[in-house]
Amino acid sequence: MTSPVANPRPKASPAVLLIEDTPSLQMVYRSVLNSAGHQVLLAGTAAEGLSIFRNHGPQVVLLDLMLPDRDGLELMQDMLTLRPDTAVIVITANGSINKAVEAMRAGAHEFLVKPFDEQRFLGAVENAGSARPAPRRAAMPAPTPLPSLPSSEAFIGSSDAMTRIHAKIRSVARSMATVFITGESGTGKELCALAVHDNSARAAGPFIALNCGAIPQDLLESEVFGHMKGSFTGAVSDKPGAAAAADGGTLFLDEICEMAPALQTKLLRFLQTSTVQPVGATRPRKVNVRIVCATNRDPLEAVRRGQFREDLYYRLYVVPIHMPPLRDRGNDVIEIAEAALARFAAEEGRNFEGLDPQVHALFHRLPWPGNVRQVLNVIRNVVVLNEGGLVSLDMLPGNLADPAEATSPFALPSGSVTAHDPTLDSLIGLTLAEIEQRIIEATIARHGGSVPKAARVLDVSPSTLYRKLETWARDG
Ligand SMILES: Nc1ncnc2c1ncn2[C@@H]1O[C@H](COP(=O)(O)OP(=O)(O)OP(=O)(O)O)[C@@H](O)[C@H]1O
Ligand SMILES: [Mg+2]
Repeated sequence: MTSPVANPRPKASPAVLLIEDTPSLQMVYRSVLNSAGHQVLLAGTAAEGLSIFRNHGPQVVLLDLMLPDRDGLELMQDMLTLRPDTAVIVITANGSINKAVEAMRAGAHEFLVKPFDEQRFLGAVENAGSARPAPRRAAMPAPTPLPSLPSSEAFIGSSDAMTRIHAKIRSVARSMATVFITGESGTGKELCALAVHDNSARAAGPFIALNCGAIPQDLLESEVFGHMKGSFTGAVSDKPGAAAAADGGTLFLDEICEMAPALQTKLLRFLQTSTVQPVGATRPRKVNVRIVCATNRDPLEAVRRGQFREDLYYRLYVVPIHMPPLRDRGNDVIEIAEAALARFAAEEGRNFEGLDPQVHALFHRLPWPGNVRQVLNVIRNVVVLNEGGLVSLDMLPGNLADPAEATSPFALPSGSVTAHDPTLDSLIGLTLAEIEQRIIEATIARHGGSVPKAARVLDVSPSTLYRKLETWARDG
């Protein structure tokens, strides 16, 4: 070691090329940048900007999209062709968010919509300065050829549809652009979110996934933004929240359309300011996160119904990625099934040789409403219930080829429920959490008050039940 100091993260103050034609704004931006330690190269036209760019190759470019001599987007594309690693932050007027979105799709790193405050402005420049040349994974030898799969071999399937998705993931991963993943249940939206993270410069940072549909709405705010000790009943200690935990990495907001309106407003503010204010905290804290979100609903429909804020939708729907259903992915279903067979067989210590041609033909014909997840379940079923050999039609779960199953990804257990089951009437209208509590309490009562016995019947660990009982007792 030659350095006496323990290698602190170097403060990023890269030279910034500012391309802006309004003199008063030039002055303001320059003075803010200078006072933060950045050297500023100034251009008032696109032509001047491109020439400075060629000569100096700055790492960060602040680009006003409305220039007198040329379309800002075209200029950006020229610069990115010359140096794809450049982080371009585009500046647009309020009301032209579409332009900003277009720029993000074309490879901009970030966008700022006027008016913005100094903190947001500098935050964007600093993120841009630190994002680009960062090493991908610590121990990755450079330069590596592009991997054929976006993420740790997780994605199986070489159909054209998936090849296009892989290319999109790779190209979008480099920017800060928010990625909005849609697709039916089980198509691999979460896997896609992970791949975006893994292919980005923040791969070494945290990937924090939060399911907005699974957390009770009254707890969601503190789950996302954190809380301070004592800020509400049950807040027994400070909690950072997912947004802060994802600092330097990616925050994956799953089932985003399920988020309650009040929290949508807070999320929007978070996206605009890059700061979080935990419940009960007096000061906001700056964080640097990349947002990826997903839903299996049609987000525009949710906007039309008034369930999802339109402004938030436009803020998030920057780079859409639609995961196609498995039935539109050609031979992927076979590739996925064969890979799953090999994996599950190894896990279960069985010897399977593959799927026979009739199974192939059937798999190609089936609509797979539960998509990849359904295929994995079917194969798991086959492996568990059969000794080995070549998988034939008679080894498949009986309901698989039944057209009645086409609307439901999974067969309901035998003797299962209909929409008008009288035994369930008293539960209809309760929340899932309330139903869960009733079932657990009834099961414990049915077993003479024994928590371990009830746990066995419900197939959970007794500690899960004890924890829930404790929570209910505490919340009255
Ligand atoms: N292309 C693929 N190759 C292999 N496994 C896959 C692929 N796509 C998805 N999977 C697996 O299928 C399962 C479902 O994927 P994932 O959870 O990403 O789907 P999803 O779209 O988020 O579903 P949901 O909408 O129900 O949350 C996971 O176990 C995942 O690992
Ligand atoms: Mg999911």
